[in-house]
Amino acid sequence: MGFDTVIRGARVVTSGVVSTCDIGITAGRIAALGTGLDAPEIIDATGLIAMPGGIDSHVHVSQPSGPGVEMADDFASATRAAACGGNTCVMPFCLPEDGQTLREAVAAYLAKAEGQCLTDVSFHLIVKSVDPVTLGQDLPALIAQGMTSFKVFMTYQGMRLTDAEILQVMAVAREQGALTLVHAENEDAIEFLRDKAERDGRIQPVHHARTRPIPVEREATHRATTLAEVADVPVMIVHVSNGAALEEIERAQARGVRVFAETCPQYITLTADDLDRAGFEGAKWVCSPPPRDTGEQAAIWAGLERGAFDVFSSDHCPFRFADPAGKDAPGARASFRNIPNGIPGVETRLPILFSEGVSKGRISLETFAALTATNHARIYGLESKGSIAVGKDADIVLWDPTLTRPITQDALHHGSDYTPWEGFEVTGWPVRTILRGQTVMLDGDPVGTATGQHIARAKPGVTP
Ligand code: URP
Ligand code: ZN
Ligand code: ZN
Repeated sequence: MGFDTVIRGARVVTSGVVSTCDIGITAGRIAALGTGLDAPEIIDATGLIAMPGGIDSHVHVSQPSGPGVEMADDFASATRAAACGGNTCVMPFCLPEDGQTLREAVAAYLAKAEGQCLTDVSFHLIVKSVDPVTLGQDLPALIAQGMTSFKVFMTYQGMRLTDAEILQVMAVAREQGALTLVHAENEDAIEFLRDKAERDGRIQPVHHARTRPIPVEREATHRATTLAEVADVPVMIVHVSNGAALEEIERAQARGVRVFAETCPQYITLTADDLDRAGFEGAKWVCSPPPRDTGEQAAIWAGLERGAFDVFSSDHCPFRFADPAGKDAPGARASFRNIPNGIPGVETRLPILFSEGVSKGRISLETFAALTATNHARIYGLESKGSIAVGKDADIVLWDPTLTRPITQDALHHGSDYTPWEGFEVTGWPVRTILRGQTVMLDGDPVGTATGQHIARAKPGVTP
């Protein structure tokens, strides 16, 4: 058989197995796994590990973020950063502007992404309104077009849905075979705490974390899983930050509810103390749910080690720090309430988990592949992606497990002007990212042209 490219001699992580072999690639797909394979292009990967290209199923790109506020990444910079961080596919959220329908928003996002992307992209939807057009027309039409998952929020003014509304959305998910993602924090409880903090003059960034304590996430997680139970649908609880919320998920699973769980690098490496840095510096770490403490980091690690989490995503939501259109938005210094929520992380997600998980011996290579690619593909219906197997897209990332260097802003490629992980020491870096057979990152730098495509997805694989 003639191959276009052969990756030779890597330790290859396939579903549940690690073995040293060659990977033959033809027309952008994996055509063979074996030994002694030959092709006009040979990539010598001796000493490297070949993993399925990372799929980051939780990123925010060019998302409307309020008057005067702008996200730091467009599709070109977000996917450039993603590729440099070992990803071959990202899943951004499509949020309608006020007055825009969901279908109009999707058309606008597709136009923004067209011709810009160094990785593939596949959109989730955000449902912030349960009007008849959204539920009766737009969702069914978009699900049929392969956007088979949508997020609902229990927090954020202007975005949150009531329980009754979430049930209506879940009913559509059930009817159409889509997956509902839930941001689980109790907005009324947050508002109560936030008002009190402001009345008392506690307005610094750290009070973002103190007014979103664990009980507001735990309660909402319980409610979200219960609503899924009532509606009889699977649900994904995104960005789980602590052990109590994870316990709610596991209790629901024990009752037979199909609950998936996601966590992110911030919940295993950062703490609320990061938001307590001098002056306004803490704004760099403002995200929701907020990072907790080292005890909760340990609880999240325990969950990762026992297989309680299905996916590990970044929740990349980048703003510039020294920018009135970013973290320093009007009113942000007068109250934490006005600091845009979110941190950049699409480029650092995989190195952080590899270093803290694989290099430190907490998780195996196979678990790493499952948490960063294979499970994302299965759960969200990315049928051609997520594993190194014959017939799949040749989306492959080569890792040097011995390379040690700190994360630094000057080596990153995102649009933000800082990283929350400045100086964080990492052992194990991706050195080559291959998208459908074409190299898009080499030795830390983006290469090649923007051939990323929007991927229509199958119905979610919802059997845990
Ligand atoms: O603070 C965060 N996580 N911002 C992004 C939006 C979200 O809730 O995922
Ligand atoms: Zn969220
Ligand atoms: Zn998010």
